[in-house]
Amino acid sequence: MSSKIKKVVFPVAGLGTRFLPATKANPKEMLPIVDKPLIQYAAEEAASAGVEELIFVTSSSKRAIEDHFDKNYELEAELEKKGKDDMLAIVRGVVPSNITCVYVRQPEALGLGHAVLCAKPVVGDEPFAVILADDLIYTGEKCVLGQMISVFNDRNCSILGVEEVPHDETDKYGIVDPEESDGRITHVRNIVEKPAPADARSNLAVVGRYILSPGIFSHLEKIPRGAGGEIQLTDAIERLLQDEQVLAYRFEGKRYDCGSKLGYLKATVEFALLHPELREEFIEYLETGFGQHVGNIRQVIND
Ligand code: UTP
Repeated sequence: MSSKIKKVVFPVAGLGTRFLPATKANPKEMLPIVDKPLIQYAAEEAASAGVEELIFVTSSSKRAIEDHFDKNYELEAELEKKGKDDMLAIVRGVVPSNITCVYVRQPEALGLGHAVLCAKPVVGDEPFAVILADDLIYTGEKCVLGQMISVFNDRNCSILGVEEVPHDETDKYGIVDPEESDGRITHVRNIVEKPAPADARSNLAVVGRYILSPGIFSHLEKIPRGAGGEIQLTDAIERLLQDEQVLAYRFEGKRYDCGSKLGYLKATVEFALLHPELREEFIEYLETGFGQHVGNIRQVIND
């Protein structure tokens, strides 16, 4: 399976029920962390990893994503007329010029595996990446997908982005049954969906980054509906493992589960603390405004 990773699939057709009512008419992936929607962080990660094509698997209620990555002539003309060059550069920079966006519809929310399968006609017979935009990962210089592509270029097989989770939380994730490890890389014997802590073979949880061989599609086409009546990507990976090598890569970076309210709040606060325009004032607010109550937050809320 030797080929460059040129395409990234963004499954964005989920219902986002954990964020209702915010996600009733707006896609979860358009929720902003400070001033950028989650899907833009994901697209920027893909661009910085050097991919050429972004494939969005969308649904009827996700049109805002297409609009976000499309040109907005009226807005650009208005910003130009008013001489707001900084804003114009931000709006024009949403998609780097060398990147193509393609949209595919998932007619029904039949699960992550089904969403990935919907991208098959566009991906074709080559290895590709998958990014789940609600897993926002803050890294140093090299983004997670960039790290994983480096591993792929070396090992030439499917790679799962994993992180170590607390042992009592294995029942929330796909968990790797590991073979031997070499630094950040672990050979995967199997992958088990949401095992109880007592049954989990490790605490290596698969999170929202994958590099997959095109062999995954034939398994996705054949597997029956799994947990929750959905076509599960994990089930197809389990079958892929019988034919091909799959590695788990423990990435460098801090992940925020922005599909949950708490993860979203943590990301908002921490990204605000890193934001060049907001940083100083926000720190000052936390230290002197809000911060004077920190020892006594429950009391403040009750008052
Ligand atoms: P989640 O498990 O986070 O599901 O999906 P969800 O439906 O978006 O959110 P909740 O759990 O109801 O709050 C993981 C990723 O897979 C996509 C989602 O958009 C998300 O990026 N997905 C899920 C699809 O594209 N289609 C599906 O049928 C299911």
